[in-house]
Amino acid sequence: METNDLGRRVAAEVAGAGGIAGLRRLSEVVAALEERRTELVEELRRGQEATWEEIGQACGMTRQGATRRWAERLRARSFGVAAASYQHGRPGYPQALIGSAVPRQARKVLDLGAGTGKLTRLLVDAGLEVVAVEPDAGMRAQLAATVPKAAVRAGSAEHIPLPDGSVDAVVVAQAWHWFDPALAVPEIARVLAPGGTLALVWNVRDESEPWAAELGALMHRSTRQRIDTEPVLPAPFGPPERLEIRWEHETTRAGIIDMVASRSYVIALPEAERARLLADVEQLLATHPDLAGRDAIALPYLTRCTRVRLG
Ligand SMILES: C[S@@+](CC[C@H](N)C(=O)[O-])C[C@H]1O[C@@H](n2cnc3c(N)ncnc32)[C@H](O)[C@@H]1O
Repeated sequence: METNDLGRRVAAEVAGAGGIAGLRRLSEVVAALEERRTELVEELRRGQEATWEEIGQACGMTRQGATRRWAERLRARSFGVAAASYQHGRPGYPQALIGSAVPRQARKVLDLGAGTGKLTRLLVDAGLEVVAVEPDAGMRAQLAATVPKAAVRAGSAEHIPLPDGSVDAVVVAQAWHWFDPALAVPEIARVLAPGGTLALVWNVRDESEPWAAELGALMHRSTRQRIDTEPVLPAPFGPPERLEIRWEHETTRAGIIDMVASRSYVIALPEAERARLLADVEQLLATHPDLAGRDAIALPYLTRCTRVRLG
């Protein structure tokens, strides 16, 4: 059977007698097909089995159209290959954050884009019932091992595998900038109970120390990711409450190298450029007068939190 005929037959079957019910079923199937198409693109690119040109042709698009559509999404899903570096090198969050990110009466909390569980662990330690949703299998494996008390689920901000109104609060740490807000906002509103809250959290390196400023300049010499860490959220969410906490991440030279190696834009660098950057960071840590001869290093951070309530 010709592929086009197959497509038409499946569409007719799914849409049934049409109407709103047919439209809803059709939209669900289109979303599932699109998700599978993205997975296939990811598999082909990860294994370097196809060029963007070939992927574009297979999808009836130009090469530029295919990269515009998927390259950023692939970068968002690139963390798994560096999950161990991520877990070792990335900072956690100050425990004081939990009191602001999650309302006192909340019991069930969703950690969305939970990664290796850096925030999940603090939520569990605060006595909350935590569901952690994460799309990347490599990150999920670390998460399940480090925070066994959390319920870990595969899923994304655009397709959250939870029933309507099932959580009191949603927290998103260091991940909101990877989501598609047009899909994620209604999806988060759907899983929140009435009056539930959403907290968006970012760790930003405090570069007021000269060596931290030099480290930042090195990290961003070839590319810079600009992130809005004080976002404005649309309805049905209300006005934002904002909080900033300054704290220090106690780490080591190896920890800082892993922190750099686990950045998505460093993972995406050509191998030689990546190796040069990591060698330059090592050199800075070994020779900067404020750090030379020290292995324990306190890296200053600002943790920023924006919290909104369902209207
Ligand atoms: C920088 S990590 C942050 C992980 C963790 N929240 C933390 O604070 O350490 C970003 C995470 O977002 C996940 N992610 C990317 N796109 C996503 C999406 N559309 N929905 C949910 N998570 C996503 C990535 O797989 C990655 O684990």
